[in-house]
Amino acid sequence: MNESAEKSPRNKTISLSDNDLTMFSDKLLYPIAPLLLPEITNKVIAGNFIEVVDYLPQKFVDLMIIDPPYNLTKDFGDVDFKESSNADYIAYIQTWFPKLLPLLKETASVYVCCDWKSSSAIYEVLSRYLIVRNRITWEREKGRGAKTNWKNSCEDIWFATAAKDYYFDIEKVKVKRRVIAPYKVDGKPKDWEETEDGGFRLTHPSNFWNDVSVPYWSMPENTPHPTQKPEKLIAKLILASCPEAGFVFDPFIGSGTTLVTAKKLGRSYSGVELNKKYCCYAEKRLEMADENKKIQGYHDGVFWERNSFNQQKKKFLL
Ligand SMILES: C[S@@+](CC[C@H](N)C(=O)[O-])C[C@H]1O[C@@H](n2cnc3c(N)ncnc32)[C@H](O)[C@@H]1O
Repeated sequence: MNESAEKSPRNKTISLSDNDLTMFSDKLLYPIAPLLLPEITNKVIAGNFIEVVDYLPQKFVDLMIIDPPYNLTKDFGDVDFKESSNADYIAYIQTWFPKLLPLLKETASVYVCCDWKSSSAIYEVLSRYLIVRNRITWEREKGRGAKTNWKNSCEDIWFATAAKDYYFDIEKVKVKRRVIAPYKVDGKPKDWEETEDGGFRLTHPSNFWNDVSVPYWSMPENTPHPTQKPEKLIAKLILASCPEAGFVFDPFIGSGTTLVTAKKLGRSYSGVELNKKYCCYAEKRLEMADENKKIQGYHDGVFWERNSFNQQKKKFLL
């Protein structure tokens, strides 16, 4: 995207001025020697995490969110990732995944993002080291249509833990759904809430998420990063799998979604990114989070089913 191009008034995509680039570059951490936990806490680390990891403390991470380049040809500025065979992709993950393990606390959880094509490779490596607990599939909504194939509009996230004991708070990630068949006992709603806009129920979330969409240009969290994850998606992982005083780490921060969401939810965070411009987007978003802690689709401690929140909009500010 040409950042100097005139934007439509509804286009909320975050942009960086030359001044932003200078100012935010100065805030980044460029490790050259071993670092203590307070030195990396709430910091964006610039560099190649495969090298940076040697300077990080051990056993400090409660939740690790890993969003690596998928097995697709994609230009990330400093990294021009090329699609390869499944075996080569497995070999690529194997070069770095074990290096992250010493950072994990014994009770830590790990989530790894992927698409259908890289999913089996991720499982293969993850299951060599951790207890794999589930695979979430989320509908990203946007996707390119194809003439001879199904449109690819879903992604996976593998969920694994370091040990048998781990933190998981189901109450924090319930989904507010519209009640289709409102059932009443003695004239009163059974397990649902009656409002002037209809009936709603708080439900246990499954491993299929269709209440999230990738950031659009009209959303205030949007940046020009080519594979930015939605804050709502990451918020679910953090609320379920990171205690309030916990630490979230992301080795591939991109535009900073994990760190920004962790900050909005009051967790400690740190992460690494190779591309300095993306690091600056992360810094800018972290600064914006000082003023605005809203996460689109998550309001008053509740995740709203896609589109049902719109009917309640008048009660909340987006
Ligand atoms: C899939 S994107 C992450 C997107 C991110 N979750 C977000 O919401 O913006 C992967 C990122 O990893 C970065 N990257 C690739 N290899 C890296 C490495 N060895 N160390 C640090 N960052 C790396 C790329 O520049 C890219 O921005």
